Amino acid sequence: MYLSTLSFFLLHLIIAPLNIKGVNLDNVPFEKNYAPLWGKENIRILDQSQEVQITLNQNSGSGFQSLRKFGSGWFKLRTKLPQKDSSAVISTFYLKADAGDEIDFEFLGGNNKERPHILHTNIFTNGKGGREQRIRLWFDPAADFHNYTLLWNEKQLVFFVDDTPIRVFKNTTNKGGMYPTQAMKIIASIWNDTWASNGVPVNWNDAPFEAHYRGFGIDACQAQGTNTQECRSPKYWWNGEKFWGLNPRKIQAYKNIRSKYLIYDYCAKQPQIPECQNLPIY
Ligand SMILES: *[C@@H]1O[C@H](CO)[C@@H](O)[C@H](O)[C@H]1NC(C)=O
Ligand SMILES: *[C@@H]1O[C@H](CO)[C@@H](O)[C@H](O)[C@H]1NC(C)=O
Ligand SMILES: *[C@@H]1O[C@H](CO)[C@@H](O)[C@H](O)[C@H]1NC(C)=O
Repeated sequence: MYLSTLSFFLLHLIIAPLNIKGVNLDNVPFEKNYAPLWGKENIRILDQSQEVQITLNQNSGSGFQSLRKFGSGWFKLRTKLPQKDSSAVISTFYLKADAGDEIDFEFLGGNNKERPHILHTNIFTNGKGGREQRIRLWFDPAADFHNYTLLWNEKQLVFFVDDTPIRVFKNTTNKGGMYPTQAMKIIASIWNDTWASNGVPVNWNDAPFEAHYRGFGIDACQAQGTNTQECRSPKYWWNGEKFWGLNPRKIQAYKNIRSKYLIYDYCAKQPQIPECQNLPIY
């Protein structure tokens, strides 16, 4: 009895800090929340587990994933992309469910000249994607770390680059739209494919390609099994009304960035589909 009360209390102490706003999540060691996924020989844990370097060379790419699955949250990683000519090199940060829901940040490498880096985003529901958007970045993403964040709650899914929202996907379930609902792991990886460079091959002279990640604290709701219902609770700060839409200042920032840097948006071709309606620019 004493023991179980105590362990219940301790369990809360361990879990609670994940859910309190303002807790410093930047110093959480990698191993607490993540583990290698593939290409283990190409993964280096640095700076007392505050930083991870994943490498692509001619033998292999590599990747890591979260130990747990989540059903809502404020998912943030700090990333610095490979330097030099990384054409056809893809670095990622995404959420993925076994049953086919997926929310992707994919960084398509470039050479900083005629092929700038491109941030490609996509959303899959039950294995169906086709929701691509692409933007150029307004800074060199290989020069320094930047924050890439996904807000996922019952109302909307927002992709942020540093503090700027670059993509909004609304929950249009009540109008017949699709929306990610499945418990997902957080994954980051580096690999190569010439779809990312319009057929230009990898410049292996510039290998190895190294992507760096920091910020391994996770501000998200851990899913119990495959059910994410409990993760819609208002007790989580990212589910609060303040996060149901963008405020006027964020809408302005969103419009400004998109007017200058958007390259491709599937919604531009089919603004009538539910998920493309009532967005800040459609
Ligand atoms: C990223 O977020 C951290 C806080 O987690 C902040 O200290 C840093 O300045 C941010 N970086 C950028 C480029 O906005
Ligand atoms: C999407 O919104 C509907 C209400 O319109 C709600 O019932 C449902 O739980 C939401 N889906 C998710 C995954 O939050
Ligand atoms: C990645 O590069 C390796 C080495 O050149 C090559 O064998 C492989 O086919 C490439 N992968 C893809 C998906 O193109």
